[in-house]
Amino acid sequence: MVQERRVRVLIDEEKIARRNQEIAVEIAKREPKQLLVVAILKGSFMFAADLMRALHHAGLMPQVEFMHLSSYRDATVSSGQVVILKDIESDVKDRDVLLIDDILESGRTIAFAKDLLAARGARVMTCCLLEKPGKSAVTIKADYVGFTCPDLFVVGYGMDVAHSYRQLPFIGVVET
Ligand code: IMP
Ligand code: MG
Repeated sequence: MVQERRVRVLIDEEKIARRNQEIAVEIAKREPKQLLVVAILKGSFMFAADLMRALHHAGLMPQVEFMHLSSYRDATVSSGQVVILKDIESDVKDRDVLLIDDILESGRTIAFAKDLLAARGARVMTCCLLEKPGKSAVTIKADYVGFTCPDLFVVGYGMDVAHSYRQLPFIGVVET
């Protein structure tokens, strides 16, 4: 277990909650039709849950689905290939879909999911909690970004290192 290590707070709960509300208001202004939130597991589960509530407060009635994706970027040869571990169940044709991920780094994960849903006929908006600038390998910009992330490995608020720290209510950096 790595649980004992101290975590330095980078973005606290209040700041996250405020930003979620702002994003929800921006999305509500677009008056999405039959809005379906698609959260990419596992990293975005907490952000998606809070954003769902923020969307409710902004006057929307979103439904939610989960897609579990995995990328082999840590393999010896980084192929950048993304695989579907669990797909969504709903038909997305002609629906407004809000695709949510935790971090946009190379951009491969969100680009893969966006193309897949668009090919099924969805109108896709993308939303990332964090964006790491200058790292993208594919040309994709999220429509909504929570915060710009410094070039550090962050944990908490759904994000992990070796499966730990997802439970933290804030975004932080593990101290070495
Ligand atoms: P990419 O945009 O396809 O490169 O993938 C981004 C994914 O890498 C995110 O969804 C995270 O799962 C993971 N990731 C990238 N940077 C971090 C980090 O700092 N902390 C935790 N996970 C990260
Ligand atoms: Mg992830």
